[in-house]
Amino acid sequence: MQLKYWKRWIPGSPVCLMALLWMGLIVPSPAVSQQKKGLEEPSGICPQPRKTVTAPEEFLQLKNPLEATPPNILAGKTLFQVDAKPSACRICHGISGDGLGILFHRVEPKPRNFTCIHTMDDLPDGQLFWVIKNGSPGTAMPSFSYLDDDQVWQLILYLRSFSNKE
Ligand code: HEC
Repeated sequence: MQLKYWKRWIPGSPVCLMALLWMGLIVPSPAVSQQKKGLEEPSGICPQPRKTVTAPEEFLQLKNPLEATPPNILAGKTLFQVDAKPSACRICHGISGDGLGILFHRVEPKPRNFTCIHTMDDLPDGQLFWVIKNGSPGTAMPSFSYLDDDQVWQLILYLRSFSNKE
């Protein structure tokens, strides 16, 4: 049955909704759906292109000797966010570990995104240890050779926590 002409324009009627869509008033917003996605998916670049040199075999065998206890993770977090010299990891890797720190736009290759499981799951602890101690030559990643081994392992526990959210 045909609706009376004027009834087609009452709010909520299909014709009215079509007209609003056409006028661009209710555009399905990609920004909003992106934000919703961000809750479940890692942010930043993921998977991430990676050309980092592979650590020597003896490092790749290393396992983190420290347990992921709250004090160890907190020690790693303090270094990452504040204390590490020449600069806190956060400057490049971002407060939430997504690789989008304030220097993100200034450096190439981009800082590692620790929230990206695709990239992080393939990287053994010993690889992370080696790069933190020695840096990644030809990139912005500095060496943190002054840190003792336990501090580096605490940092790694904290880095892993970015992609281990259950
Ligand atoms: C000035 C910028 C900068 C700072 C500060 C920085 N990084 Fe990085 N980091 C990078 C960049 C750029 C890369 C990517 C290097 C590459 O592609 O080889 C990287 C890569 C890494 C990797 C990945 C290694 C791999 O094999 O993929 C680890 C782990 C890492 N950083 C840890 C840290 C930690 C821990 C700190 C602080 C103690 C830190 N970074 C501070 C820029 C930085």
